[in-house]
Amino acid sequence: PPCASQRNPVSDAPPDSHFDVIVIGGGPAGYGAALYGAAAGLNVAVVEKDKVGGTCLHRGCIPAKELLETAHVFRTVSEAAKFGVESSAPTLAFATTMARKTEVVTGLFNGLSGLLKSRKVTVFGATGTLQADRSVHLSSPDGDSQTITGDAVILASGSVPRTIPGFDVDGRTVLTSDEVFELDQLPAKVAVIGGGAIGCEFASMLSDLGSEVTILEALPQILPGVDKDVVNMVRRSFKGRGIDVRTGTKVLGHTPGSTGTSIQIDGADALNVEAVVVSVGRKPLSDSLGLLGTGVVVDERGFVQVDELCRTAIDGVWAVGDLIATPGLAHVGYAEAILVIKQLLGEEAIPVDYANVAWCIYCQPEVAFAGMSEQAAIDAGYQVMTKKHRWGGNSRAQIIGELDGVVKVIAEKQADGTAGRILGVHMAGPWVTEQLGQAYLAVNWEATVDEVAHFIQPHPSLSENFGEAVLALTGRSLNG
Ligand code: NAI
Repeated sequence: PPCASQRNPVSDAPPDSHFDVIVIGGGPAGYGAALYGAAAGLNVAVVEKDKVGGTCLHRGCIPAKELLETAHVFRTVSEAAKFGVESSAPTLAFATTMARKTEVVTGLFNGLSGLLKSRKVTVFGATGTLQADRSVHLSSPDGDSQTITGDAVILASGSVPRTIPGFDVDGRTVLTSDEVFELDQLPAKVAVIGGGAIGCEFASMLSDLGSEVTILEALPQILPGVDKDVVNMVRRSFKGRGIDVRTGTKVLGHTPGSTGTSIQIDGADALNVEAVVVSVGRKPLSDSLGLLGTGVVVDERGFVQVDELCRTAIDGVWAVGDLIATPGLAHVGYAEAILVIKQLLGEEAIPVDYANVAWCIYCQPEVAFAGMSEQAAIDAGYQVMTKKHRWGGNSRAQIIGELDGVVKVIAEKQADGTAGRILGVHMAGPWVTEQLGQAYLAVNWEATVDEVAHFIQPHPSLSENFGEAVLALTGRSLNG
């Protein structure tokens, strides 16, 4: 019988070939729809050509954060003597580092496979293409094929890294995030093209582990969407750790040599590196879905077009996750999956508020934000009041010895000159990805500064810094 493990041949499929829901793609958006739908009693099939878990589990969020944790451990051990904990200088056993990453991924993959199985989700190890009348054609790697039908079809085939002309990915010198996870040794000198979420996470991780890193970003600022004051703090911290951040930089191409490559940069000397990591965004993977002629509309960038309820142009066919032009985040995929399943169940469904989703970037210092940056709020026509709190005055940050970063709260300035609704919270610093929760709720609950200031933060805790910044916006404060 089919199980939720990888690569089951299509011929193992059960004779019944009609499902309440067919999901094409087993990443977070796809397995999210399957698990949530199955929990509500729906009979769900997932069609996945590789492994359930998708980019997030196998080539994205999970392995990246696992390697960033290695970087954290390395930093902690390097700094241990400051705490009076004497040890010899740490060295990196890269094979062990990569093995642990694989072990974490495998454990989570087995857990997910087991969960799908226990919810009686049928997983087909095949490539699915959409046909008329909500039927899906399955073709497995061994040449078997079959057609299944559904009351609803959810397209969730995800995305792949974007590349740039002149930088053909060879898996040795020119890498995307996919290939970084397969490295068998740490490159001594690396150029990261693109200073977005992936670029900053990899730059931070590789630098902490011992590589010499240069970020080459085309725009004037790294970390698009993040408040400028927060970005400046990250940049300063990167600089302090020896990461060379070059913004407004145009790469022209590269010339491979025997031990690496030489990158040509517009208006600057060539940069010689051992490896290049291209992290210039991701593109939707809509080609293989066979959408041509189905009526499902695909835009010129390859995104499947949907309305705010994730409905495609075809009744009963939905699209979620990186395949649609919404923030490419696993947790946004989950939210879209739930949104679709609720509609299938005839329940009230509230569209995702994309402008206010939680963003967490796990570089050192970590970056987390929800809602508008100061500039975005001004551009949207708001009068704003802001407060920035550094970590120096926070006792817990002093205790753990991590003072890089800032918490910035952006509030609407009311007619009487006082601060009102919290429009955005942007932070960099220790464990801010774990602290974003209350800021996310404040922004999305449309809470005011006075309302949030009423709540108590535990002492000593890192979260006091957010509480203090909000308190300061009421016009009075305890610290600074
Ligand atoms: P991104 O869109 O965040 O950043 C790409 C950067 O590359 C931009 O700053 C852009 O200006 C720059 N760029 C584009 N073309 C360039 C060129 N030719 N030369 C130099 N710079 C160039 O994309 P990224 O970092 O690849 O991540 C893709 C997506 O994956 C993110 O938007 C996010 O949705 C998701 N992601 C989220 C993470 C998180 O939340 N922790 C971590 C990793 C990825």
